[in-house]
Amino acid sequence: MWLNIDSFEEYKDVYKESVENPEEFWEHEAGTFYWRKRWEETHSGSFKNGDVKWFEGGKLNITENCLDRHLNTIGNKTAFIFEPNHPDSFRRTITYRQLHEDVCRFANVLESKGIEKGDRVAIYMAMTPELMIAALACARIGAVHSIVFAGFSAQSLAERIQDCDAKMLITNDGLRRGEKHVPLKDISDEALEDCPSVKKVIVCQRTNRDIDWVEGRDEWWHLLIRNAPKEHEAVEMDAEDPLFILYTSGSTGKPKGQVHTCGGYMVYTSYTFRNVFQVEEEDVYWCTADAGWITGHSYILYGPLLNGASSIIFEGTPTYPDAGRLWEVCEKYGVTHFYTSPTAIRALMKEDIEYVNKYDLSSLKVLGSVGEPINEEAWHWYHDKIGNGQCPIVDTWWQTETGGIMISPLAGVTPTKPGFATLPLPGIQPALVDKNGKEIDGNGVQGNLVIKYPWPGMTRGIWGNEERYKETYFADYPGYYFTGDGCRRDEDGYYRITGRVDDVLNVSGHRLGTAEIENAIDEHPKVIEAAIVGYPHDVKGEGIFAFMTCDNGVSEPEDFKKEIHDLVSKIISPIAKPDKIQIVDGLPKTRSGKIMRRILRNVAAGETDDMGDTSTLLDPSVVDEIIAGKAY
Ligand code: WTA
Repeated sequence: MWLNIDSFEEYKDVYKESVENPEEFWEHEAGTFYWRKRWEETHSGSFKNGDVKWFEGGKLNITENCLDRHLNTIGNKTAFIFEPNHPDSFRRTITYRQLHEDVCRFANVLESKGIEKGDRVAIYMAMTPELMIAALACARIGAVHSIVFAGFSAQSLAERIQDCDAKMLITNDGLRRGEKHVPLKDISDEALEDCPSVKKVIVCQRTNRDIDWVEGRDEWWHLLIRNAPKEHEAVEMDAEDPLFILYTSGSTGKPKGQVHTCGGYMVYTSYTFRNVFQVEEEDVYWCTADAGWITGHSYILYGPLLNGASSIIFEGTPTYPDAGRLWEVCEKYGVTHFYTSPTAIRALMKEDIEYVNKYDLSSLKVLGSVGEPINEEAWHWYHDKIGNGQCPIVDTWWQTETGGIMISPLAGVTPTKPGFATLPLPGIQPALVDKNGKEIDGNGVQGNLVIKYPWPGMTRGIWGNEERYKETYFADYPGYYFTGDGCRRDEDGYYRITGRVDDVLNVSGHRLGTAEIENAIDEHPKVIEAAIVGYPHDVKGEGIFAFMTCDNGVSEPEDFKKEIHDLVSKIISPIAKPDKIQIVDGLPKTRSGKIMRRILRNVAAGETDDMGDTSTLLDPSVVDEIIAGKAY
């Protein structure tokens, strides 16, 4: 039977067992899936060498576990409920049997277009069931999907396609998100000018707007599936074959293509979904994330399907047509499990409470939070106003790299505490280390968060760059996986994530590298050098503050700010636009030329009373000048 922990005592016992006998623990979990051939070695490799593997020798296809396995038992159960951008547009539900058929058809289409096991396929689509079908069809034929968030620019899309040499792009004509229209096909066309690896583009109709067409390259989704057979024999994969690539920002350089594998990722997302959310047979689960991020991969696509859950795919935004949208959907479908970001909560808290009170939210049983630290005020509002004080909040800490949830309450099992991700899941061994890499024992302590022992869902590499993988995660603290997060462990042994300790920003739950934004701004002809820092923002969690030196100064700062916004939107995405900019005569640099970001962070946060030691600066007088300057 599947492991399903349902009391705190049981959690403690299972946790202990999982640390004492990790291999047995994961063997038991893995044993609950359908494998074409059982694995030979449960776990090999180490953090020290950066060569961790799980279930080697095992043969499987994840879509057989998401779909085929359910046909005889819950074939007629709803897999997905699709809720469109506008509440009056066409909505639909898809059963497991229909989803299986759709995936098989599209898998046949992909194969007929020459896509083979191991090929990379980029997906740049609206949040519709077709996005899920496209990804699952890739998995079914063993192609590696690379979903790119549909808010990224042509240039960002191109970079991601080039990095993994994708052979095909699947997109929509366009999408609507709230009032906005995003011309996905036009953006794709622009991106593909620099992507010779892409030979075929499949376009799924969504907005019916006019688009350009490249004969011989572009084909309509609806025409292709029309005659495609609805049966498809899934391709047998090795447990360690790549399942997908997902790009995420790091502290340096370009986004990294995290590689997740078929076997370990399957076991881990399924196990975490089941135990964290405790979803039961008749429940309706809704995760509001976008499929372009890891939360969408693990907890809209794979985790729920592996467990035979019914879940909602939502195309819209929390405030369209009005700020009651999320609650309206909860009432409409009787949502029992609701999983969203602190940013959404903070934004909705500011609205009239009537937007909440108008709807019957009594179906809710479990509330989830993900992507960024949740402040206590937001936690309480979520708990009291949305959950009516009755629903446990699972504050789930994890990362693109971890594949699934790592530290979190188990709903209704773990006693919660506002702002705390609480305790590690069984199988996960967190530790705190000091600057020298020494483990900090005991409780009531703070340090950098590392993981001591491998788990099946962890990233197996950065696409095409093994060195960078080892360097990023395993070099700072040899023998550990380094998360990049700071963390406090309180007197009860509960974990509270305090935020990134590296140069990664978390803006509205979106992960952005300071270097990426700086490079984009540096492209402006007037800019000599830019330095980006985060600062506390009451809705976004973290805002983006750009300091920059410019040639000959700037006479119209408001206009200039707009130019910077346009540039960043074009190179990265509107989500990376600086909230504030300040033009300075000089950046605070050490004698070795390194920017002292600590100083900029203090200025950005308005904490300038104590600037600490500035004696190592090449020119300490720049600090006063920056404090006296004006931000726009
Ligand atoms: C942050 C998102 C506090 C953290 C799943 C992490 C969190 C980064 C939480 C990963 C949480 C995620 N509490 N911080 N519950 N969840 N984070 O890769 O800094 O987009 O390192 O994965 O988000 O972001 P990513």
